[in-house]
Amino acid sequence: MTTEPQVPSLTQIQNQPRAHVPGTTIFSPELAARFDHLVTLYPVRRSALIPMLLYAQDELGYITDASIQEIAYRISITPLEVRNVLSYYSLLRTRPVGKYHVQVCTNISCMLRGANELFAHCKQRLGIDHKQTTPDGIFSLEEVECIGVCSWAPAVQVNYDFHDNLTAESMDAVLDQYRKQAGK
Ligand code: FES
Repeated sequence: MTTEPQVPSLTQIQNQPRAHVPGTTIFSPELAARFDHLVTLYPVRRSALIPMLLYAQDELGYITDASIQEIAYRISITPLEVRNVLSYYSLLRTRPVGKYHVQVCTNISCMLRGANELFAHCKQRLGIDHKQTTPDGIFSLEEVECIGVCSWAPAVQVNYDFHDNLTAESMDAVLDQYRKQAGK
């Protein structure tokens, strides 16, 4: 006789013991010190959540399970509460991306200036689709909402760098530049 797997209730999930071991850190000593300071800057510790997630992502490349556990512990909330915030913000990632994460805006201003064609060009040039990573790990590609550079559409963000007024040719030059920086 087979038994159905037990699905934990929300309360059970929320009450799961935290896996983070107090006094340890999965982050670099510099980032751990930065977090120690960050939580003192706000009247409420949980206000440090989003900056902590962004700094963790910058250091690790994405938000890992272990970083969720440690951040939850540091600001005295549950890992589930951290995940709820994570799932809301598309700029926060729970999966690895390429060394250069190419985000092509296809919102209205960019779309009117050729963003769909630019995104198709990037897919063809990189040989990957939306939310995929090249086999060498250099590039990942994502179609995104407005990145705030509408006056210079079409625009692309690569990590924290913005590239605007792009054409297929200038996009190729941008990608070549990053490939060169990666030494490939
Ligand atoms: S619509 Fe593309 S940057 Fe705003």
